[in-house]
Amino acid sequence: SSSQSTSSDGFLQCLSASIPSQLVFTQSSPSFTPLLKSSIRNPKFFTPSIVRPLYIVTPTNVSHVQAAVLCGRRNGMRIRVRSGGHDYEGLSYRSEHAEVFAVLDLSNLRAVRVDTQTSTAWVDSGATLGELYYAVGKASNALGFPAGLCPTVGIGGHFSGGGFGMLLRKYGLASDNVLDAVLVDAQGRLLSKSTMGSDVFWAIRGGGGESFGVVLSWQVRLVPVPPTVTVFNLPVSASQGAVDVVTRWQQVAPALPDDLFIRVLVQQQTANFQSLFLGTCDVLLPVMSSRFPELRFNRSFCKEMTWIQSVPYIYLGSGSTVEDLLNRTTSAAVFSSGYKATSDYVRQAIPRDVWATIFAKLAQPNAGLMILDPYGAQAAAVPESATPFPHRAGVLYNIQYMNFWSMAGSDGSVQTKWIRDFYAFMAPYVSSNPREAYFNYRDLDLGENVVVGNVSSYQAGMVWGQKYFRGNYQRLAMAKAEIDPDDYFRNEQSIPPLAKSK
Ligand code: FDA
Repeated sequence: SSSQSTSSDGFLQCLSASIPSQLVFTQSSPSFTPLLKSSIRNPKFFTPSIVRPLYIVTPTNVSHVQAAVLCGRRNGMRIRVRSGGHDYEGLSYRSEHAEVFAVLDLSNLRAVRVDTQTSTAWVDSGATLGELYYAVGKASNALGFPAGLCPTVGIGGHFSGGGFGMLLRKYGLASDNVLDAVLVDAQGRLLSKSTMGSDVFWAIRGGGGESFGVVLSWQVRLVPVPPTVTVFNLPVSASQGAVDVVTRWQQVAPALPDDLFIRVLVQQQTANFQSLFLGTCDVLLPVMSSRFPELRFNRSFCKEMTWIQSVPYIYLGSGSTVEDLLNRTTSAAVFSSGYKATSDYVRQAIPRDVWATIFAKLAQPNAGLMILDPYGAQAAAVPESATPFPHRAGVLYNIQYMNFWSMAGSDGSVQTKWIRDFYAFMAPYVSSNPREAYFNYRDLDLGENVVVGNVSSYQAGMVWGQKYFRGNYQRLAMAKAEIDPDDYFRNEQSIPPLAKSK
């Protein structure tokens, strides 16, 4: 199936010289299937028709990663890198088309080292967000880190693709706070910020890691958090005026003070306003009554706690503990259903009558849900070309659409069609030319690479690339040409190489 000749025996033989055999798994090994499944978060990519890797390699040190890349190149064996396995399209462990490949699973490389003196940390790609948050919380109660909500998400995919959560408006994205990184490139070289080149260091902070090599670890800037934060969750049903409150939220939330983040989860006929405020309830109350009286917020909704306590509280619920951040399987339970997701960006508030129609559509059988994350403040303060992530000034909020189904007795076609129809319906009300999307909410419906002469086509990649990266797509493609001109590291939505015109 591969145009290049692949020698899988040669790959194994080459590996055996540098990697202990117990770290290499073939399909016939009894551990292969449990290992493959271990971090799959969308079970629709664990069915017999899915194209699986031929091998899984689980490095325990840097030299194993270098050896896997060199052996892969010499033997025409492509590698897909998996950190936390949360990719919405499963591209870290499966191929959309018939292909021979190996998975490099980084879950053994998960050290976190916090330095409270400099308020920085080094974190390996195979660690989870929960492990990073936990280590930061243990080291200091005055420091936090701005990244996603779900504790089982992997550092490798999340940081390289952006990464945002409840601290987005105060401190920006995870990738905005990366100071240095360690990368193994397609030649097996071990590179850092000072040796990988400024274009490549720019590219891996939002442009996706998989196009440029294997990112092994990241140095990040930790951020100050106050001793007390306030969390609230306030549901408003349609009969209580949810349409009006959500319509108003669009103007209010992106313009609030940067220490107040209010997102909305709209499901069936209820809008859940979920919030993190970096301060006490006493300080929050007057802000809410002056800026957002329509929400009718009062003291009874306030839950005060420390920042590190707020992390499990918000995502795992009120019964959870800080130790639960170390549990690598929490979201496996939440995500035991198959799902389809996609995203949009809103730059002009959607009119009230359209919101009324949206609520009616969310009441349909087999309807999905929407998560609205407000931008503005620090998210918008970074210039559009300063990092690959281009959804900056002018963006009011991000929409994530999701629809779930039970794998027992359903293939998800009804729910997937609902998402596609709803996405089509939303077109007039969201960003256009290009219609922007968030790279970390990967959706292959946005377009896929076309390989021409064994290299992904720059022209064909523009279709999906400009949605995720707007004008930064071209610079990403030039960075790709610098570090991996032969397109060894590729998948269905990796950045194609664009050689600088002479
Ligand atoms: P995975 O290992 O699947 O990798 C994703 C992609 O990155 C693949 O293409 C892979 O090859 C590549 N890659 C991974 N590690 C690499 C490395 N070390 N070097 C080079 N390339 C590498 N997002 C968000 O911004 N905020 C949020 O709150 C959430 N919440 C959330 C919850 C749940 C349950 C899911 C499933 C997903 C999210 N996300 C999210 C999206 C998440 O940020 C996105 O899926 C990340 O890419 C996941 O990173 P993983 O390492 O887990 O994925």
